[in-house]
Amino acid sequence: MAEPSGVTRAGASPAAARAAHVVLVGLSGTGKTTVGRRLAKELGRPFADADEQIELRSGRTIPDVFATEGEERFRELETEAIADLLDRPSPLVVAAGGGAVTRPATRELLARPGVVVVWLRASPQFLAARTDTTHRPLLAGDAEATLARHLTERTPLYAEVADLVVDVEPFHVDEGKPKRALARHIADRLREREAVVPPADGDAAASGATGVPVPGVPAALSTVHVQAGRVTYPVVVGPGARRSLDALVPASARRVAVVTQPGIGLEVPLDREHAVFTIGDGEPAKTVATVEELCRAWSRWGLTRADAVVAVGGGVVTDTAGFAAAVYHRGVAVVHVPTTLLGMVDAAIGGKTGVNLPEGKNLIGAFWQPHAVVCDTDALACGPNHAPDANSCSCVCQDNCGGNCGIGSTCNMSTCTCSVVID
Ligand SMILES: NC(=O)c1ccc[n+]([C@@H]2O[C@H](COP(=O)([O-])OP(=O)(O)OC[C@H]3O[C@@H](n4cnc5c(N)ncnc54)[C@H](O)[C@@H]3O)[C@@H](O)[C@H]2O)c1
Repeated sequence: MAEPSGVTRAGASPAAARAAHVVLVGLSGTGKTTVGRRLAKELGRPFADADEQIELRSGRTIPDVFATEGEERFRELETEAIADLLDRPSPLVVAAGGGAVTRPATRELLARPGVVVVWLRASPQFLAARTDTTHRPLLAGDAEATLARHLTERTPLYAEVADLVVDVEPFHVDEGKPKRALARHIADRLREREAVVPPADGDAAASGATGVPVPGVPAALSTVHVQAGRVTYPVVVGPGARRSLDALVPASARRVAVVTQPGIGLEVPLDREHAVFTIGDGEPAKTVATVEELCRAWSRWGLTRADAVVAVGGGVVTDTAGFAAAVYHRGVAVVHVPTTLLGMVDAAIGGKTGVNLPEGKNLIGAFWQPHAVVCDTDALACGPNHAPDANSCSCVCQDNCGGNCGIGSTCNMSTCTCSVVID
């Protein structure tokens, strides 16, 4: 079996490497998808198949994309799909297509810090005997000859990107469950080199790992990785969590549209170009008209499909901005920064977005999972005129203002008219 060429590339910080995405590369038939799924279980994190992502994103099968638009277009889609996966803040195991390394742009993605590449290596004879060519347009005809040519052409490219090389064939000699053994072997090698962190407990493997750090997010903050179908995202919780926002917005986003309400006043630090879009307060603002206004304002500002939305507020803001993000350009990334307890424990999690109609509440909506959720517990701090209420876990007004909030009622802090200054 070949020796690994070293797991952490120069430039990758130890923290980034420990939470690294693991990408499997190698010729068709090496078992990237099956081994990838098992490896993901071993490491307690989600699995994503790049080919499946291409089909989901394009709404077409891979043979169809090849037949109608050719290999070059397929490779472009493949780069986009891999970029999207490697942009996710929660660490994944990704199976890349056999020819993904042939495109320089994809090799650049694989060379990023925080990405560990495992090359599953096998001979053309071994692979030809095991490969079903139905879904692999490039292998039609003499599969063994094509695989031999691919191996010659791609060996230097796999070697260029690989951090770890694993020969597949020895696992098939007398091993009852070769793919499981292969996955365990890879997991052990990665752990030995601290390229990954183990799952926190048994449940983590099933539901997404708890506590796996996100690069750029201080370890003092708590992180839970939520798995929703094929999508995984981190929920980062703790005082000052908003200061990690930049690390949780997709790297591809050059511009960020921050949506909030007057009176919330929670500033979110962002190192890239951003603008604030303010919506109205309360249920009356949770309308299709607000969604249209947001989308039109984003469009005038030049927000693109590759950019991102950050929703800073209670459930009204995350529901409305989340729905606008789901429909703008047929979907842009959204990061929720909930500022109410209800937002942190419920509205911002799970991807339910929507607005009201005169006929009913939340009648129009979409499931649009956030890219990340940032629960900055500082947002829940009570102002000088408020005190925490043990029943509602909200702040309650301590002054009889005679307006919207009497003593003991839950104070709507942004509209409170108390004489005492409220921050
Ligand atoms: N998507 C879901 O799964 C889900 C789940 C539950 C509720 N919801 C929705 O959530 C909405 C209710 O959310 P809510 O209870 O957070 O109310 P809300 O969003 O209306 O916020 C209450 C008030 O507090 C203000 N506010 C929020 N954070 C503040 C802060 N840190 N400082 C000062 N003022 C602040 C807001 O501006 C608003 O005036 C409803 O529309 C409901 O349908 C959605």
